[in-house]
Amino acid sequence: MRSRLASGATAADATAAAAALRELLPPSLQPVISASFIRSHLLYEEFVDRLALRVARETGLEAATRKPASAQEVVAGLGLEARCALVPLDWILRRLAAKGTLEEVGAGADRRFRSHTTWPVLDPEPVREAQLRHDPSSLPSYTLAGTVAQDYPAFLRGEAAGEEVLFSPRRLRLWVDYFSNDNGLYAISNHVGAVAVAEWLPRVGGVILEVGGGLGSGALALLDRLEAAGRLGEVREYRFTELVQAFLRRGQQTLQGRYRDPSWLQFVVLDMNRSFAEQGVRPSSLSTVYAVNALHVAHDLGFTLGEVRCALEPGGQLIASECVRPHPWQTIYAEFIFNLMETFRAPRLHPVYRPAGGFLTAEQWRGAIEAAGFADVRFLPDILRIREEVPDFFAAAIGATRPD
Ligand SMILES: C[S@@+](CC[C@H](N)C(=O)[O-])C[C@H]1O[C@@H](n2cnc3c(N)ncnc32)[C@H](O)[C@@H]1O
Repeated sequence: MRSRLASGATAADATAAAAALRELLPPSLQPVISASFIRSHLLYEEFVDRLALRVARETGLEAATRKPASAQEVVAGLGLEARCALVPLDWILRRLAAKGTLEEVGAGADRRFRSHTTWPVLDPEPVREAQLRHDPSSLPSYTLAGTVAQDYPAFLRGEAAGEEVLFSPRRLRLWVDYFSNDNGLYAISNHVGAVAVAEWLPRVGGVILEVGGGLGSGALALLDRLEAAGRLGEVREYRFTELVQAFLRRGQQTLQGRYRDPSWLQFVVLDMNRSFAEQGVRPSSLSTVYAVNALHVAHDLGFTLGEVRCALEPGGQLIASECVRPHPWQTIYAEFIFNLMETFRAPRLHPVYRPAGGFLTAEQWRGAIEAAGFADVRFLPDILRIREEVPDFFAAAIGATRPD
């Protein structure tokens, strides 16, 4: 029987979904993806749904969809700022349609949305309180989404830049708390990635370069796992890289606080949209390129993957922990937040593997990685198999090998 994680937010739903998943997960991931995590995941789905509903109401979507309307028609009808608003608004419409608040009429370019019922009024706060009682460690995800939701209508009207809403200096604390192994909902990506590296890291060790390392939580989870397995000595150098100086500095503080400044830890600015060689990464010099929730923001994914392949030695590994979209056009809750970023929602498109911005499906990852010249593309856990049984599970690591 197919088990939807997000069929509701009860403890019984979480237990049932966890049981379904346990059958499909390798033993190394079973403790990571626990029934407790799934309960938090279900609650957060509900919380984001309620925020999206509130934003939709405040933006006038209920009236704007009394007659079937496409996202473009809604944007034009409400006088919203199309360049910023189209993708997030289309996401909200699809999200409401998936919940049955709206009806979806037609498909593809002809897809339209119609509200045929009066919309329910659903307060997000009781869901946050349920999370507080269940596991307060995930509250940073709630605080971030709740904060973004307040500014969403102004962003859709073009009165506030998405990057300003997300990254104004006064909001740095939100990110420090969000990108953290103490945030149970976010840490899953770090743990899945760390398990994958422990499995796929070449035994001879070598140089690991992390792209988009942010505040360092992904690196910390990985190095802690290798250390616990007595394998830290296999890492000749861990080169932690990041585009944003403020993030790099914080990541450096975190990692040096934990590992007391060993010579094998290096910290470097690296822009994944520019030539790696021109930024000091020698061709064929790395054994592993690692990234947690970072590669999907590449402006031109084909270019960045090509740079990664050149930087790897033959037999070297690309390992990326990502939110992998189970089915095309399916919404993933983190997109409610990240759709405010132009780099996230509007990368350079490719007809086969990058038909839209945001997260990629397993097939799109495989297509992009193979087109860049990699072999042996694989997923941990087996996301293709899992999505047949649990269609809204999306945490996975993607591995690939640079051929000789
Ligand atoms: C989801 S975050 C990764 C969080 C990180 N794993 C952590 O634990 O804090 C994605 C990161 O990619 C970085 N990024 C965005 N554009 C980039 C670029 N062009 N090159 C390198 N990094 C980039 C962002 O600054 C951000 O830190």
